[in-house]
Amino acid sequence: MSGFSADWLALREPFDLRARNPTVLAAVAGLFEHQHSVRVIDLACGTGSTLRALSPRLPPRQSWILVDNDPDLLARAAAMPTSQDVSVTAVARDLSDDLEPALGGAVDLVATSALLDLVSEAWLHRVAIAVTARAIPFYAALSYDGRVAFSPPDPFDAAVVGAVNLHQRTDKGFGAALGPASADLALTRFAALGYAVAQGAADWQIGPEDRDMQTALVDGWARAARDIGTQSGQDITDWLARRRAAIAAGRSSLLVGHVDFFAVPSATR
Ligand SMILES: C[S@@+](CC[C@H](N)C(=O)[O-])C[C@H]1O[C@@H](n2cnc3c(N)ncnc32)[C@H](O)[C@@H]1O
Repeated sequence: MSGFSADWLALREPFDLRARNPTVLAAVAGLFEHQHSVRVIDLACGTGSTLRALSPRLPPRQSWILVDNDPDLLARAAAMPTSQDVSVTAVARDLSDDLEPALGGAVDLVATSALLDLVSEAWLHRVAIAVTARAIPFYAALSYDGRVAFSPPDPFDAAVVGAVNLHQRTDKGFGAALGPASADLALTRFAALGYAVAQGAADWQIGPEDRDMQTALVDGWARAARDIGTQSGQDITDWLARRRAAIAAGRSSLLVGHVDFFAVPSATR
């Protein structure tokens, strides 16, 4: 198991879908608009959120390879209903080891979402080398960038977010994670390897009515802050109680910062 439950991925998917940067999505769609078919590989697919977001914007005939190391999530992805022109092949792989073999087949696009903040600098370098060596376009959505804005603000918010961002850098199975630094580093790396990069913000906007999402987030952030141990447990407990009270009262909104980008070999743009 990966630690990402299907319930959590289902809860976040509508926020991801609304957040995906439209300019970046248009750039992906534009590259393939004159093709009749397209072959896509989705790295760390979860239950298939990237396919659901991207498929309506791509040529009608699509073949998708969905890769993840979590058999439960992968089974759900493989079972998703698609149109008869969209074929889905689910592949179980641990991408921390098996990245290069996973990218070995013929594809027109490598896609991923909510993955790059989990990976190490060395792994990011590996994926950039593997993709650019074959001149394949790369779409990476929803990399967390470290920004969280609470409304109304609380004096302890910054301490919790600071601890969360330290937790983001801990090992998530790929070595020390890049966390909030991942998107900037990826953009720089792809540009240095001769790719043109379109990028944009893809922030979650979470309103007062989105109580389940807000509660899941503040609970998770309190756990992460306790794990990191830079703040007192009582301060974190008190902060969580204030945040939960504001959510229950319908007075709380959240913004969580993410970055999307699309990188293509310079000659193709
Ligand atoms: C935050 S979820 C994102 C899932 C999906 N891309 C989405 O946007 O809903 C991260 C995904 O990475 C997968 N993952 C984590 N470590 C992995 C590894 N070593 N190999 C393959 N997949 C991995 C998890 O199983 C999970 O599906």
